[in-house]
Order: sequence, then C-alpha cells, then structure tokens
Amino acid sequence: MPDFMEDLMQVSQNVQLLTHPVAQAALTILRDVTSSRTEFVRANNLAALILALEVTSQVRASPTKVVTPLGTADGRILLDDRVILVPILRAGMALLDPFRLLLPRAQIYHIGIRRDESTALPERYYPKDLPQIVGGKTIILLDPMLATGGSVCDAIDQLKGAGAEHFFFANVIASQEGLNKVCEYTPQIKIVTLAIDAELNDQKYIVPGLGDYGDRFNGTGAAA
Ligand code: PRP
Ligand code: URA
Repeated sequence: MPDFMEDLMQVSQNVQLLTHPVAQAALTILRDVTSSRTEFVRANNLAALILALEVTSQVRASPTKVVTPLGTADGRILLDDRVILVPILRAGMALLDPFRLLLPRAQIYHIGIRRDESTALPERYYPKDLPQIVGGKTIILLDPMLATGGSVCDAIDQLKGAGAEHFFFANVIASQEGLNKVCEYTPQIKIVTLAIDAELNDQKYIVPGLGDYGDRFNGTGAAA
C-alpha cells in the first residue's frame, strides 16, 4: 500500500486543511528555524500556489461554446471579474502572485493592518476608506498567519462596511483560537489552511508556528 494522503481534509463546515504532500513539505521548510530566506520564499511560493489552486476551484464559471478548427466544443468562461483579492499587508502579499495568475480579472484591494507589538491588537494604516463593493462580489482574503484573529476580523469588518458578503480566506497557519473567532464573526466564511496549531504564547505568537512570517519573507526584523 503506498503512503497516500488525501489532498484536502474537511475539518468543519468552515475550515479545510490542505494535506497535499507538496504543500505540507513546503510548510515544514517554512516552519524550520534553520531555513534560509531563499528557502523560505521558495516554500512560500509553492504553498501559495497550491492554496490558490484549491481556493480558486470554488470560483464560478459559465458555460460557453468554443469553435475549434474542426468543430465546436463545450467550454467555460471564468467569472473572475466577480472576485476581489484582499492581501492583508504586509505578509498577505506573499500569497498574492498565484492568485493573480489564476484570476487575472480579479480586483485587488490592499488592506494595511499591523498588530501593536505590546497589545497584539490590530491597528489600521491603509486605506482610509474602501471603495463600495457592489454586485455580490466574492472576497478572497490573503494572510498567511491567523493568531488571535484580530487582524482578519478587522479586515472583514472594513469589507462588510463597504458592502461585502461572501468571504474566502487563504491561510498558511491558523491557531484554534483565531479560527474560532473568525468563524463566529463570519459564519459563512470558507477558510483553507495548511495547519491548525493549538496554542498562542504570551506575545500572541502561534506555537509551534513559524515565527514572524512578514519578517522571514521580507528579510526584515530579527530575521535580517
Ligand atoms: C501578522 C500576520 C497577520 C497578523 C496575525 O501581521 O500577517 O496579519 O499578524 O495576527 P492576529 O491574528 O493576532 O491579528 P503583522 O501585524 O505582524 O504585520 P506584517 O504582516 O506587516 O508583518
Ligand atoms: N504574526 C506572525 O507572523 N506570526 C505569528 O505567530 C503571529 C502573528
């Protein structure tokens, strides 16, 4: 019998765990304290690509006909113009590229939120106001780390205020506490993640986690 894993595990109505072996091997490199920045970025790119493939499998497409040199075939038109990608700055930018590749017509709204280092509470710094969201668009939030849930709930709050109703969230590591908070706040949200870690430490970092994603990806902070 081969050592075979399913690519995806349904954890709850809201949460899917990406068990794809390439994604899990990438996560192991992301977690490893000895990984160089180059290794970290490469693993991020692999994880982001697989996350993007999974999340975009939920994007709708309408039927069409396509004329080939020899006849007519059934085809599909991707309704990616009904999607808004929302990377939460900074670390969310690490996940953006494959989503742009797969959904080229999606709008992109950047939301800048940083955690205050002493309180771990979210602080908004961009934008002042979000443009109004009309026409039942689907939001795909991008942020690799979900710790207390404060940042993503604040982003959802801003997006709901602008008119958004339908939310997906692409994530690399979630704490159980963060997941509970986000799902309670937005009961219809669909979250795809690579790991659910049990604990937060006194500084509200995920344990075992991987440290500070934004710093490790960008080569800043203690990682510089
Ligand atoms: C990190 C991470 C999330 C947030 C998670 O960002 O990318 O946005 O913390 O923590 P929470 O669930 O407790 O809110 P950070 O504030 O470190 O900013 P950065 O992306 O600029 O590094
Ligand atoms: N942000 C990170 O980058 N890592 C954590 O563990 C928590 C918040």
